[in-house]
Order: sequence, then C-alpha cells, then structure tokens
Amino acid sequence: MVEPIKLSTREQRERLIETAHYNLFLLRAEDVIIDLLTDSGTSAMSAEAWGAMMRGDESYAGARSWYRFRDTVKDIFGFEQVIPTHQGRAAEHILFGVTVKPDSIIPNNTHFDTTRANIEFFGGKAIDLPCLEADDLESEYPFKGNMDIAALENLIVDEGSERIPIIMVTVTNNSGGGQPVSMANIREISRIARGANIPFYIDACRFAENGHFIKRREPGYENTSAADIAREMFSYADGCTMSAKKDAFANIGGFLCTNDAELAQRERNILILTEGFPTYGGLAGRDLEAIAVGLREILDEHYLDYRLLSTRYVVEHLRELGIPVVVPAGGHAVYIDSRRFLPHLEPLQYPGQSLAVELYVEAGVRGCEIGTVMFGADPHNGDERPARHDLVRLAIPRRVYTQSHMDYVLEGLNLVWERRSDIRGMRIVRAPKYLRHFTAEFDWI
Ligand code: F0G
Repeated sequence: MVEPIKLSTREQRERLIETAHYNLFLLRAEDVIIDLLTDSGTSAMSAEAWGAMMRGDESYAGARSWYRFRDTVKDIFGFEQVIPTHQGRAAEHILFGVTVKPDSIIPNNTHFDTTRANIEFFGGKAIDLPCLEADDLESEYPFKGNMDIAALENLIVDEGSERIPIIMVTVTNNSGGGQPVSMANIREISRIARGANIPFYIDACRFAENGHFIKRREPGYENTSAADIAREMFSYADGCTMSAKKDAFANIGGFLCTNDAELAQRERNILILTEGFPTYGGLAGRDLEAIAVGLREILDEHYLDYRLLSTRYVVEHLRELGIPVVVPAGGHAVYIDSRRFLPHLEPLQYPGQSLAVELYVEAGVRGCEIGTVMFGADPHNGDERPARHDLVRLAIPRRVYTQSHMDYVLEGLNLVWERRSDIRGMRIVRAPKYLRHFTAEFDWI
C-alpha cells in the first residue's frame, strides 16, 4: 500500500490546531504530515496478511478463521483459554469486570491509560510500581520497565492479598518510556504472585519487542529464539491481555487469555453481551486471519532487529542535537522529556502538551503527551497533581516510515528546540472525567 502525504504550511497548521482546541487527537489525520500519534493499528500489513484476509471465514460460530487464530495464540502464548475481543481495552474491561471490586488494588509496573481507567471504572485502584531506575530518565539501565519487587512485596503485606485480585506487568512498559521488562523480573513477580495466591497477568501488547530486548540485553538468552522467549515469558503468567493492533501488525483486534476455565466461562458470558459469540469476539473472520499471520511475522528476528535499531537511530540523533530524550531507546517509540526541554514551565502548565502542539505547528508531526494531561487528574475527586514525568511520545508505526521520514522529524524537532525559550505553557479549558487527554480542550497561557 502507498498512501499520499499532504503537505501543509505553518500558517495552515496554526489555524488547524487552534480549531482543534490544541488537542492533537481532534485533528483530521489528513492534516498531519508524519503521524506518530500511535503505533496502534497503524502498521503496514504484509502481502501474506492481506492474502489471508481473503480467506476469512465469516461463519457466526466455529469458523475456520477462529481455529487458525486460536491455535496460533495458544501456540505462541501457551494459555488454555483464548477469548477474542475487538481490541485490548475490551479484554481489560471484561477481565476487570469479573475480578475488580470497589476496594481492589491492582499493581502494575505502569498501567497504560485504558488499563488504569478500566480499573477505576469498576471502583478499583490502579497502582504503579516502576523500578527505581525508571525514575532517572538518563540512566542507561537495560530493563527500566521492570517492576519494583520490594514495593510489590510491601504492597501485599500492607494491603493483604485478598484486596489484590490481579498483579499485572506491561511489556514493554509503554507509559514508562517504552522500556523492557527482564525475564528475571517477570520470574520474580510470578514467584511472589504464586506465593500470595494472586493471579499474574501480562499486558502483552508489545511482547515481541520486549522479548527481543531480552535476547539482546539479558545474559543467557543470546541464542534463544523469539518464539521460545515469548513462551517462557508467558509460562510464568496465569493470563494476558493483548492488543493485536501492536505486536500483531493488525488494524484492529485483541484477546484475553487465562488457564482458569471457570473464570473464562464468566468472561465469555460478558463477551457475548458486549463483543460477540466466543468464536469471533468483536472481530470479523478476516481480522482473525490477519492477526494469526501477524503474530507469526512479529517473531521474525530480522524484523525485530530492524525495529529496535530504527528506533535507536532516532534516539541517538536526538541526543547528538542535545534534545532530552528517554534512554536507552525503547522499541515502539521515542520519548522526549518535556520538563527538561521546557524547564521554564511548571508541570501544571502541561509542558508535554505545549511541546506536542509546537512540533505539529513547526513540522506537521503529530506526537502524544504522556504526562500530566494524561495522568494528572484524580477521577475520584478531580484533584490535579503533576504526573511522574511529562513526556512527549513519538510512536513509530511498524513498517510504515523510512529513514528519510525520520530525518524530517529530527529536523522539525531541532527547529522547535532552537526556539524553546519562547514556548508558552497551556491550560485546560474543558475536560471529561475519564481519559481526558482524548477530548480535552486547551489554550495557551
Ligand atoms: N495496554 C497497553 C500497554 C497499550 O499500549 C494499549 C494501547 C492498550 C493496553 C489498549 O489497547 O488500544 O487495543 O484498546 N495503546 C495505544 C497507544 C492506544 O497509543 O499506546 P487497545
């Protein structure tokens, strides 16, 4: 597939972003030159995946496409029960709907926004327990996505295991700078969870990228195949949630897995109410086919090498320009530290939002704030506090952009960097209670 890119002028973009209330989610995609808003559902599918879509079996129950999908998921992830959903958050909604009670606590290395919101929607509390190294955005520690094991143990002692229906870990840690989680850390979390009799789930969105970081950075895995690393990772867990829009190259799709047949039955009851019959979930047969192909392709180690190296290319060039960026390079995205980029702004002046807007105005590049706009409001009482970090994420769709597109992004960022001291902060004019970053309206201070 080839898609045209429409060029625009700075004056046009100034008007467009003002009309969108300075919220990049409210722009028309055709008004974006390079779209790094997300790597979710935006990847380029292969000829194999498009070919497989043509044989999609759209039977309501027991379609051939379902069995191909189910067998692939079982083979790679190793869980007994597979529940197809239309995307990752639907899997989360079903999982938390059957497990979270109003006083529940769910720890994670760092919850993604939909994970956190789904837990809070059911009255639970989502707690982030990133490792200490994650706080230092400049530390080169190879597994900054790890969970703080001591903090997890303390949480279980302080709150009691009966209040914790699930322990989760997100691979790679998207909201924490796209950093990987080591096999050793996953093994430790599993040991603690099993000791406390708490089910352990992996948010598996970028499992193959995480696995490749394990291969390249964790001693003992140099010669282990991507498929074997994935199998080992999931062997420590009791289930997973997955968005096939990430490490399955699909435009839509997801699933929920468990080894607990009784739990799966309760989940399927909700699935039928909200998504569809258990052999298609929220998906068409052709989507099930595309995912089955994508899950195999993502384990191609040549692809995974290319993926990690091309993200590192952007990070290394940003460092050469002096632009503050989270290191080491993650897999799916580059994270710019907007607090160090715009040190004259307070976190509650949303430096990440300012920077993301300025990058759009400068170069037509769309990124996404991951900071105080996304995580700063407490939905229970409306209080506002600075998030742990204020980052701008430039997520890189899989197999879409070339090095010259990325060079254009680097040039645009450098132009913003050169006039950084003139950049103003922002205020929120209007915002909803949950997931406010998608629809909030902003203005310059
Ligand atoms: N978990 C993680 C770690 C994610 O990154 C996402 C989505 C989800 C769950 C939810 O999956 O979109 O299929 O419902 N992340 C996208 C992003 C939207 O841009 O990072 P979904």
